[in-house]
Amino acid sequence: MTKPFEKIIIANWKMQLTIEESVAEAKEMKKLLSKSKLPNSTAVVVCPSFLAMSEVAKVFKGSDIILGAQDTYPGDVGSHTGEVSLRNLKTLGCEYVILGHSERRAMGETDESINLKVKATLEHDMLPIVCVGETYDERKEEKTNFVVIHQIYEALKDVNIREGQQIILAYEPVWIIGSGQVIDANEADRMSQIVRQSYVDAMNGEKLDALNIIYGGSVTAETVAQFTNLEKIKGVLVGGASLDGKTFIDIVNKA
Ligand code: PGA
Repeated sequence: MTKPFEKIIIANWKMQLTIEESVAEAKEMKKLLSKSKLPNSTAVVVCPSFLAMSEVAKVFKGSDIILGAQDTYPGDVGSHTGEVSLRNLKTLGCEYVILGHSERRAMGETDESINLKVKATLEHDMLPIVCVGETYDERKEEKTNFVVIHQIYEALKDVNIREGQQIILAYEPVWIIGSGQVIDANEADRMSQIVRQSYVDAMNGEKLDALNIIYGGSVTAETVAQFTNLEKIKGVLVGGASLDGKTFIDIVNKA
């Protein structure tokens, strides 16, 4: 069971850091965060590589930083070579799980598998961060709304969100991720309304309290507030700018 947060700032370290580097940045984040006067309604989540999670978990123990994973397998045990179970992630204290990131969709992750993972994550009382967003070509072909609505519908098909559980939908325009460009705040605002409406429709108008919308794509300390100031956007998912502990905590403080 996760309490609702006013702000959610998530670091996605992807495959960028070694275990040693991950531990060093985690320590820096913990030190800097302990000095910032953040309200405890702000969730700061860090998603290291699977390999670094156990060491990073030790660093975060006793701090306010929440451990997240970059993906999972929707089953507890079995012959699934190379996969990582929610059961094991949970033993590390992992609470949030990124699902359907565009980099995984590009490697063949299907809507169907994302849906299974969303269900399994909620069954384990962990919080799914479901990523949705259009590619550059889809935007050019005016398919943006369709793509995002479709991804949300598919991810939430027959999903049961229990009392007190939360879910995050992260709108990430794929063509902005890692590009250093920012999307216009008005467009992020418009997309957040589409994301919200799709959630309402997919959930038959129920569990609106469980929804948290965040934005992702080349977010920096300079640009974070233009997204978190938007009415329907509660936070950000940060890749490149989260790899340095000091830069990430700067984003957290400016969000
Ligand atoms: P970026 O990555 O901040 O480097 O664009 C965001 C993401 O992939 O979630």
